[in-house]
Amino acid sequence: MKARSVVTLRDAAVERAGRRLWSGLGLTVTAGELVAVLGPNGVGKSTLVQVVLGGFTLAEGEVRVLGEPAGRANERIGYLPQRRSFDPSLRVRGRDVVRLGLDGHRWGLPLPDWWPGGTARRAATARVQEVIDLVGAGAYADRPVGELSGGEQQRLLIAQALAPAPELLLLDEPLDSLDLPNQAAIAALIARISRTQGVAVMMVAHDVNPILSHLDTVVYLAPGGSRIGPPHQVITGAALTQLFGTPIEVLTASDGRLVVIGQPERHEVTAGRQP
Ligand SMILES: Nc1ncnc2c1ncn2[C@@H]1O[C@H](COP(=O)(O)OP(=O)(O)OP(=O)(O)O)[C@@H](O)[C@H]1O
Ligand SMILES: [Mg+2]
Repeated sequence: MKARSVVTLRDAAVERAGRRLWSGLGLTVTAGELVAVLGPNGVGKSTLVQVVLGGFTLAEGEVRVLGEPAGRANERIGYLPQRRSFDPSLRVRGRDVVRLGLDGHRWGLPLPDWWPGGTARRAATARVQEVIDLVGAGAYADRPVGELSGGEQQRLLIAQALAPAPELLLLDEPLDSLDLPNQAAIAALIARISRTQGVAVMMVAHDVNPILSHLDTVVYLAPGGSRIGPPHQVITGAALTQLFGTPIEVLTASDGRLVVIGQPERHEVTAGRQP
């Protein structure tokens, strides 16, 4: 049986401030698939996420999401924006942050506080606990989010995005500002969610190494063009060297994992380097 298509882009191109960021992008993401969107700063990774959310219009081509034009099915999408942080003084409990993911949704929330344990409220409370357990945040879900570590906050935000049982998760740099063990743990968690819940995941990342072993598909956006395919086709020294125009090596570690060496880090893409 052919898996259902969740996101389809055909010959897509975007322009910002008169500059073409990427073009000729063709991509199909199916249920349960884990896709990474990689590339240097300013290449248009977050813009691609905005396109899928219907918040940014393609200059060319077509985008369809969950069988509709982008933007029509957003209540079936879980979205984690880039660069999130909580004020250290924020007293809201982690559990309540997760619950925000259900507000205004088909669960019929928010309900008034005096509501005597109605069915919808019980279902919502149970769902919040379910996703807190799923991301392993039970130990700190009742503490104020402002005092939690970056990794703990990240798990709660992933739980928030998961709360309404989305069919598509869009995660913009979910590993940003985490230490290496936490990057590995969150990457493994996202992969497990994608497999066990059958959720299609598009995640933007800066460094491919922590997520490489979990990926089905890589979308590499680079100044010289883009490449899409399974990791072993896209993450090769030859492919990356051509994309970035600088020597990049891909090594195979003793456990079979690929390690990218020399990937340009945090370089801004400048207009002059566009094709
Ligand atoms: N609201 C905006 N108005 C005008 N230009 C924008 C806007 N948002 C982004 N851009 C420009 O579009 C380009 C792509 O931005 P985008 O945020 O998609 O890049 P990115 O690949 O996500 O980068 P990063 O790795 O820094 O998050 C950049 O040159 C950026 O300056
Ligand atoms: Mg971005």
